Amino acid sequence: MSDGKKRLLTGLQPSGQLHIGNYLGALKPFVESYGEYESYLMVADYHALTSLKNPAQLGEGIIDVVADYVAAGVNPTQATIFKQSDVPEHTELAWIFDCLVTVPFLQQAHAYKDKVAKGLEANAGLFTYPMLMAADILLYDTDIVPVGADQRQHVEYAREAAAKFNQAFGDTFKEPQEKISEDIAAVPGVDGKKMSKSYGNTIPLFGTDDAIRAAVMSIVTDSTAVGAPLDTDKDITFALHRHFTPNLAEIQKRYVDGTIGYKESKELLAHNIIATIAPMRERRGALSREAVIQILKDGAEVARAKASAKMADVRKKVGVALY
Ligand code: TYM
Repeated sequence: MSDGKKRLLTGLQPSGQLHIGNYLGALKPFVESYGEYESYLMVADYHALTSLKNPAQLGEGIIDVVADYVAAGVNPTQATIFKQSDVPEHTELAWIFDCLVTVPFLQQAHAYKDKVAKGLEANAGLFTYPMLMAADILLYDTDIVPVGADQRQHVEYAREAAAKFNQAFGDTFKEPQEKISEDIAAVPGVDGKKMSKSYGNTIPLFGTDDAIRAAVMSIVTDSTAVGAPLDTDKDITFALHRHFTPNLAEIQKRYVDGTIGYKESKELLAHNIIATIAPMRERRGALSREAVIQILKDGAEVARAKASAKMADVRKKVGVALY
């Protein structure tokens, strides 16, 4: 697979049903570009452990997220799909990075501060989350990391970890770049805040038609009367139309003319989301649990080979490889 191509890597946590924010922010950009790179798509199961303490749910979440990857269009023969916990070098390297960065540096992480503000337990894993993510990225000499805007700082932290290591022990890690599509940097949830599992404001990617419709119909709107023009810049439904509606210009005109109301607009959006994911759902339905497990086993082998070679070098550089 390594033929001088640049490397692309991203990961998602298997901590619940993927939502359309995960899809538009990370998965779709990965699907659209992974063929041009040597590509890695990771299941961040140890990251999920920072918030999830239910073994059955975590196990099912892992299977589900891999099925979601394939359904969304990732061909497992063209990308290495693997889970973090299958490659112990990730946690090993994270420890080394933990020893290079300071507590005040980690305290500045927005994601950590946001999660604690939302009431998540401030466990030490959540605190050092960025260094495990840095290890995920740097072990594979990743060039590009497609993510949503909320992960920008985490990729900066990975660059910082690389720079700190290189400075202390000699040139070893490549500094990666995040790839954030400006128009889909932060997909809004049904309440207008960033769509997030922890806000409970999501539209599920592979929910039933009814679940998708119910979520879309619950999008918050103002009290503009039917027949009055609607503001495309402020309306959450319209923000989502931008990603799912083929005849966007026509809908935009109807907003401006006042010939569409919120209810009709939401019904159209739900219809268009369901139509977009229909072919993905079919692919998902055709994938057995055994097939998913095989994908993970195959991916683990490829990822381990890369990661162990890199870690052998790292152990030498830090001085622990004596024999
Ligand atoms: P997770 O599972 O929280 O999010 C997965 C991806 O979905 C994006 N995302 C969004 N994008 C746009 N709008 C939204 N409302 C929205 N909500 C979520 C996130 O930005 C992310 O890209 N820390 C990572 C997982 C990870 C990782 C990695 C990513 C672990 N190791 C290495 C890249 C490289 C995360 O946020 O997962």
